[in-house]
Amino acid sequence: MSRSFILPLGIALLVLACGSASGTGGDHMAEEASPGKAVFNMNCTLCHGRDGKAGLNGAKDLTVSTLTTEEMKAIVRNGKGAMAPYKQVLSAQEIEAVVTYIRTLGGAK
Ligand code: HEC
Repeated sequence: MSRSFILPLGIALLVLACGSASGTGGDHMAEEASPGKAVFNMNCTLCHGRDGKAGLNGAKDLTVSTLTTEEMKAIVRNGKGAMAPYKQVLSAQEIEAVVTYIRTLGGAK
C-alpha cells in the first residue's frame, strides 16, 4: 500500500473533523468572512493543508512563499509541477479570492 494515498485521506478526514468540532486551529475566527477561505478549503487543503503549511504531494508551504500575488494567481490558473491548473475549475473571482486568502495565512509581503 502506498503511503502517499493514505496521507491525503487522513488529512481530509482531519479537516472534516476540525470543521465539525469546536476547532483547534484557534486562528480561524478572523478569516471567517473571507470568500477565498471556502474555495481554499474545498480545493487546496488536500495538498496544502488547512493552514497552507502541509506540503503534501510535494506542495509548497504557502505561508513562506515569496511569490507576488500575480505570480500566485498565475500558478493557480495554470498549475505547476504536481499541482493541476484551476482555470477550468475556478472563476477569475474565485482565484482572486483564494489567493487573497492564501496571503493572509502568513507569507504576505
Ligand atoms: C494535487 C495537490 C495540490 C493541490 C490540490 C493544490 N496544490 Fe498548490 N501546489 C502543489 C504543488 C506540488 C506545488 C509546488 C509546484 C512546484 O513548484 O513544482 C504547489 C504550489 C502552489 C503555489 C506556489 C507556491 C510557491 O511559493 O511556489 C501556490 C500559490 C499554490 N500552490 C496555490 C494553490 C491553491 C490556491 C490551490 C487550490 C485552488 C492549490 N494550490 C491546490 C500541489 C497542489
